[in-house]
This record gives sequence, structure tokens and C-alpha cells, in this order.
Amino acid sequence: MKLLRRTALALAATALAAPLALAQSAPKLKVGLMLPYTGTYAALGNAIENGFRLYIDQQGGKLAGREIEYFKVDDESAPPKATDNVNKLIKRDHVDVLIGTVHSGVAMAMAKAAKDSGTLLIVPNGGADAITGPMCATNIFRSSFSNSQPGYAMGEVAAKKKLKTAVTITWKYAAGDESVQGFKEAFEKGGGKVVKELTLPFPNVEFQALLTEIAALKPDVVYTFFAGGGAVKFVKDYAAAGLKKSIPLYGAGFLTDGTLDAQGDAADGLLTTLHYGDELNTKRDTEFRLAYAKTFKLQPDVYAVQGYDAAQMLAIGLNAVKGDVSQKAAFAAALEKAKIDSPRGTFTLSRSHNPVQDFYLRQVVGKENKVIGIASKALADPARGCRM
Ligand code: PHB
Repeated sequence: MKLLRRTALALAATALAAPLALAQSAPKLKVGLMLPYTGTYAALGNAIENGFRLYIDQQGGKLAGREIEYFKVDDESAPPKATDNVNKLIKRDHVDVLIGTVHSGVAMAMAKAAKDSGTLLIVPNGGADAITGPMCATNIFRSSFSNSQPGYAMGEVAAKKKLKTAVTITWKYAAGDESVQGFKEAFEKGGGKVVKELTLPFPNVEFQALLTEIAALKPDVVYTFFAGGGAVKFVKDYAAAGLKKSIPLYGAGFLTDGTLDAQGDAADGLLTTLHYGDELNTKRDTEFRLAYAKTFKLQPDVYAVQGYDAAQMLAIGLNAVKGDVSQKAAFAAALEKAKIDSPRGTFTLSRSHNPVQDFYLRQVVGKENKVIGIASKALADPARGCRM
């Protein structure tokens, strides 16, 4: 009897306290990180998460008054598992926002699931042109690039140097194909010719037979897209095959980003194009780099920047809707007119929600991708097929 009375009193007290507690703290914002934590892109996934968390921590762990709660899935850069993986976050964990991923094929499956379910998605790397092309949507954004962008910038550089023939080599999937198409479009517009397009399946790294073919073709330049573990091995194999001395190797900047410690001398002198680089020497970048190095005991790379900016973009959208993610049109409108204060330099979003940004020409000097010029200014992706 006594016990019952005490329980009833306790319940009454809780009932009184509950509305007060609710009014004081908004529910946590559930953020679903779908990234590769294993495989050839594992380091890229970790850098994106680090960058994302750094920005959130700098805001005291909250955006628009809502504390952040993380849910994580390792997507293994495996497209066949992508739909099941993203549904763990959407249907099981009921996340408010999806952040992911690195691999274009997996990112496309995420974009489809986001479009179908209406879940907010910010892509912090995967450059598949389709995501900001035919798949574009009010609730889908990208903090990184579209695959054709760095390739296009490098095609312009190669053409300006009056190089005439190029061979391309990459993994056979959206990122490699579209990177090569971007290069080819600009290089051929400038008077060059791509004489051979070599590919191997993702994430294979048996380059030997293809390097022998390059030696026989003797082009003026080789253009490549590789990233992560595959980029480390390709750069080493290219030098070991003796090709570095005779045929310049140009790449989308992923070839040498976050990889220089492992590549050693083999990367020295390589030219690449990317929307980030070392020694930008701006106040914004210097502060970011110091904070990142202090927190993670690592130097940041382009992936860390893209993760950081995904969090900044989320903050801009959320602040505009006071934390209410269901207001999709207002969330999008805020980002569409935003100038995003990135460590890479300020950027805006195109009507398809992809960054409009400068592409730097970089050269590897020691352990740095030293910025030596701007290859393409305020480059926008063509957003072909995007109707919103
Ligand atoms: C991609 O699959 O879109 C991709 C992967 C790694 C990169 C860049 C693009 O570094």
C-alpha cells in the first residue's frame, strides 16, 4: 500500500517535470554517417568523419539547439550492399539526416533512398555526376565536387601546355569514367587527343600489364583517377616501371591527397588539380588545420575539409528552420543563397546543389600538395538533366 502510494507520487512528480524538460531541450538530431571504414577508401571515410565531428564540436556539440547523436554504418565501398546499408539508417535508426559517402556507386544508392524517403542527404565526397544531374532533389546536397570537375580542370591545364596526345587510366566505375570524360572534354576542346582509355575493375591494383601498354603507346601525358590505397600503389608502380622519367603523370588531386606519406619519393613533382591544397595560407584554412591537427594528431586532407563543410552546410540549413528538418524547402532555400566559408575558400551551391568552386593546380613538393596556381576559376558542374 505504502509502496503503491510512493510510486503514484513519483509518477505525478515526473508528469509535472516532463513538459518542463521537453521545453528546455529539443530532441537530439540523429545523424547517420554512412562511410567506408574498411577497404581501399577507409582512410577517406575516417577523415570525413573527423572533419564533420570537428565542426560539430566547435559548436559545442549542438546545431540549432539540438544535440547531435551519431549512428554509423561501414558501407565498405560496396554498391551491392548499399541499399540495405542505407535502410539501416533510414528505417531502423530513423535518422534525421544522412551523411555519405565516398564511393560514387554507393552514393547513388543513397541518393535514390534519400529521394524516395525524403530524408535529408549531404554527400561529403562521392562525385557521381548523376547525383547533381538527373537525381537532383530539394533534399540532396553535396559538399565536395562532381567527378568531371577536377578532370575538366586538368584537361585545360594539359591543353594549355600544348600537349597533343594522352592516355587515361582509371578504375571502371562512375568516378573513373566521369573523371576521364571531364579531362577528355577540356583536353580535346583545347586541341589535344585522348588516344587510349585504359581501365581495370574497382578496387583492383594489378597495374603491370596496363603500364606496359602505356610504355608502348608513348603518349605526351597520362591522366589518371585513383584514390586511397589504390592511388598509393599506382603512383609507386608508375615510378617503379620507369615511366615517371619519360611520360608526365597528371591526376585528379585525389591521386596525392592523404597519400603522400605512403607514396614517398614516387609522388615527388606530380601535378594534380583539386579544390583544396596545402599552403593556401588563408586565416580560415590555417585555423582549421591547426584545430584538426591538435584534435586528431593528423594533417587534414581534402576529405577532412569536405566532412567539415558537410557539417557547416547542415548548420546553415538547420539554423534557417530552427532545427526542424521537415521544412525542406526553407532548408534548401537557405543553402541556395549561402556563401559557405570553407577552408578551401568560399563557395556557393549551383542550382543542382553542387559546389561552384575554384580548382587549384598543385605540385607535390616533399610531403605537400603545394598550390601553384588556379587551374579553373568558379567551376560549376553542368547539372545535365537536373530538374527541380
Ligand atoms: C567516387 O567514387 O566518387 C570517389 C572516390 C574517391 C575519391 C573521389 C571520388 O577520392
